[in-house]
Amino acid sequence: MITPQRTDARLGRIVRLLMDNATVVASGTKIAQEIGTTRSEVWRMVQQLRKLGVEIAGHPATGYRLKSVPDLLLPDMLAPLLKGTIFGKNIQHYYKIGSTNSAAMEAARADAPEGSVFLAEQQTAGRGRGANQWHSPQSTGIYCSVVLRPPLPPSEALIFSLAAGLAVRAAVQEIDSRVKPDLKWPNDALLDGKKVCGILTEMNAEATRVRHIVIGLGINVNQTDFPSDLESLAISLRMFTGTEWSRVEVCAALLKSLDREYHNLLEKPGARESVMRRFQEASSSVRGRKVRIEESPGLEGVTEGLDDRGFLQLRTAQGLKTVLSGTVRFV
Ligand code: BTN
Repeated sequence: MITPQRTDARLGRIVRLLMDNATVVASGTKIAQEIGTTRSEVWRMVQQLRKLGVEIAGHPATGYRLKSVPDLLLPDMLAPLLKGTIFGKNIQHYYKIGSTNSAAMEAARADAPEGSVFLAEQQTAGRGRGANQWHSPQSTGIYCSVVLRPPLPPSEALIFSLAAGLAVRAAVQEIDSRVKPDLKWPNDALLDGKKVCGILTEMNAEATRVRHIVIGLGINVNQTDFPSDLESLAISLRMFTGTEWSRVEVCAALLKSLDREYHNLLEKPGARESVMRRFQEASSSVRGRKVRIEESPGLEGVTEGLDDRGFLQLRTAQGLKTVLSGTVRFV
């Protein structure tokens, strides 16, 4: 297991400072004063930022200037865009980590506040559902896990996963209205039949009460290719549109959209029904599609929509079955 490499919060402050003074050269002394450190420490941090791909011109003698706005998921970049949501207050960023879901589950057990967000530039052990891994190369995708504490029984958890899929769809559509991912129950988002986003929801609960839910979202954003074993299964937003996407913009839109869905579910009468209805509208496979359930050999049939808890209904040779979990495969 690798040691998580938590990003020094001062890196974000340097980027913010350089962005706020984009047209001038900021001296090492000024930056050092603003963030309360030394000039040589600033130089060391500038080197670290360069390693992360941030383009900074200059050196200690001349001062520093940002050559372009970096697309890093730094708390200093995201927090201002998330004001007024539950996700703006506690954002943890890792340069490299095993899995943001594992970090979020661990933090949630240690009382991390609701709305805590865990983001990584790279995951070395990104986890998918079942025994699957999530391909998580550096700074091309979004690897994001959030901690929620809905005051509800564990049987209600599925609705949050379904709502997260809707949030992903709304976020990308908001940025480019041509991109309308097709949702595959319970929580994949597809473009051209390939996976652009996967969601891993994990929960810690008592019999009647959720302690915390972690929703982990992996979005393929700027990948230009995938390893050969994933080529026929995965796609990125960039591969779909042919243009580069801002991960910061996608991530902010996603968390804002997830915040809306979450508040509606907790506060608005009829929100559950709305999630169920919109999920079914956004999914070409939730009704009338011949499928099998990978983890249940022999379970095969034609999808008949969702029941009122969000479980998949399957018309099989033995009658109508309710699928509680599993991977849907098209046949
Ligand atoms: C799946 O499709 O099987 C779910 C994939 C979920 C991947 C995300 S990436 C961020 C978070 N951290 C993880 O280890 N997994 C989720």
